[in-house]
Amino acid sequence: MIIAHTLSELHDALRDSRARVFIPTMGNLHEGHLQLIRHGKALCSSPKDLTVASIFVNRLQFAPHEDFDQYPRTFEHDCELLRARGCDVVFAPNETLMYPQAQTFKVHPPAELANLWEGHFRPGFFVGVCTVVMKLFHMVNPTTAIFGKKDYQQWKVLQQMVQQMAMPIEIVGFPIERSKEGLALSSRNGYLNEDQKRQALTLQAQLKTVAEFVRSQTKDFKAQCQLGMKALNASGWRVDYLAVCQQSDLLEVDQWSEGDLVILAAATLGSTRLIDNLEVLRSERRQ
Ligand code: PAJ
Repeated sequence: MIIAHTLSELHDALRDSRARVFIPTMGNLHEGHLQLIRHGKALCSSPKDLTVASIFVNRLQFAPHEDFDQYPRTFEHDCELLRARGCDVVFAPNETLMYPQAQTFKVHPPAELANLWEGHFRPGFFVGVCTVVMKLFHMVNPTTAIFGKKDYQQWKVLQQMVQQMAMPIEIVGFPIERSKEGLALSSRNGYLNEDQKRQALTLQAQLKTVAEFVRSQTKDFKAQCQLGMKALNASGWRVDYLAVCQQSDLLEVDQWSEGDLVILAAATLGSTRLIDNLEVLRSERRQ
């Protein structure tokens, strides 16, 4: 496995490649990230097809009050995990390489998608994500990029960016990897104590309750989400949102229309903000 810190090291590592399957991360890798690497390797069919992971904690996507400074940085261990999983190249730019000057040119995703949900509660977040991913794409020149559906809206926003900007990159969305108890794996789970880890399971439980409602009822999805938020808030969470949305545009719906749905949630436990979601397919409808 080659670890590239500079652009010339990266370009040397990629010189004779055919396809490049790219998995951007902010490090502190867990099994969720590693499943993306595994899937990336499965997409490689020739020795000239390479999996490339990047590790870069992107200041631009953190608001001033967020956890940029505390964000766990475990580079050596991350590299061991990537090596063990057969990743071919790790690109680990430093801040000076990624942002040699103040980044005044930024990628602004469309408000109708990026001001919803995460974008509403984390203003500027998707501008930071799109800007860094656009730059990483220019540096790595991938043929395919894999994103986790754990960050469902991020995956959708980046898919639109690539489509609208005519970037010749296939964007793959990969299912959420969970602990055996059901908690969506996240680098931020490390901030939770044992009690909070147990309590964190109630977010997934609430998603399942709403999903069951959606499968068996035709309408009143918003009222069910209100009930769910109330229950979560009463048990110590501070809920930002719990909503049944169309997968296609992430707009909230109160009843079934066309297409598949996804239930999106974000909530804070103590000082740790977690997100999770659950897809509900039209084919699962019982009404
Ligand atoms: P990070 O949070 O490190 O996540 C990197 C990738 O791993 C993302 O595509 C994310 O959705 C995926 N991922 C995280 N937890 C997962 C889980 N439990 N199951 C499946 N996939 C999971 O997302 C970012 O970094 C950044 O915003 C980035 C895209 C790298 C831009 O800075």
